[in-house]
Amino acid sequence: MKVAVVGTGNMGAAFAKALDAAGIEIIIGHRDFGKAAALAAKIGSGVESGGVSTAIKVADISILALPYPSILEVLQAAGALDGKIIVDISNPITADYKDLLLGHTSSAAEQIQSAAPTARVVKAFNTIFANLIPRQGRNEKLVQVFVAGNDADATARVRGLAEKLAFEAIDAGPLTNSRFLEPIGEMNIHFGFFLGWGPTAAPAWVRF
Ligand SMILES: NC(=O)c1ccc[n+]([C@@H]2O[C@H](COP(=O)([O-])OP(=O)(O)OC[C@H]3O[C@@H](n4cnc5c(N)ncnc54)[C@H](OP(=O)(O)O)[C@@H]3O)[C@@H](O)[C@H]2O)c1
Repeated sequence: MKVAVVGTGNMGAAFAKALDAAGIEIIIGHRDFGKAAALAAKIGSGVESGGVSTAIKVADISILALPYPSILEVLQAAGALDGKIIVDISNPITADYKDLLLGHTSSAAEQIQSAAPTARVVKAFNTIFANLIPRQGRNEKLVQVFVAGNDADATARVRGLAEKLAFEAIDAGPLTNSRFLEPIGEMNIHFGFFLGWGPTAAPAWVRF
């Protein structure tokens, strides 16, 4: 299995590091080939890199570690995405991080699915801060990743990927449930940045 990590910022770098440490083959994709190559070299010798379309094309699963509005443009420019598993980790937030750009009747994940109708979009990891993506950031605690999507095979594979990264993968139902997961991501941002917890908070769903 090959995973494309698209984006070289906080989440892109965290996923690249964690996936490589878990023994998963990766390719780093970025609009700037130089940035993709620089991150690949930092992760390890032999880590592949390239442009966004190439990375998505050769990967089984693509994690889009990009700001929400840019994802729509990037996918439209990416060419054929038939059957491709696209993991949307985004929280569609305002510039001050304090609010969501959309919600209630839609979600970033649903907008992304509309922009790439033949792809299999899966929502996951939006409630996990970059610091917690590598397992060393989690202090041995089991952290939940909520996974929502409409394609059973795609969601199972993304849950499997989360488990390989030592998360507890939770089936969060269809892609429309991203309307509820994205506000949870926003609440986590409030805990992390505005309520004093720092960017190591994560939500957990508990059964009693
Ligand atoms: N950071 C977190 O803890 C966290 C947690 C949960 C979810 N998320 C979500 O993860 C995603 C990435 O967040 P981040 O913190 O990694 O952001 P970031 O550090 O700002 O990195 C964003 C990446 O996207 C690239 N990019 C920006 N605009 C682009 C465009 N128009 N076309 C192509 N590439 C573009 C940037 O490239 P340049 O460097 O060239 O600008 C950079 O590589 C966001 O959707 C965010 O909501 C983040």
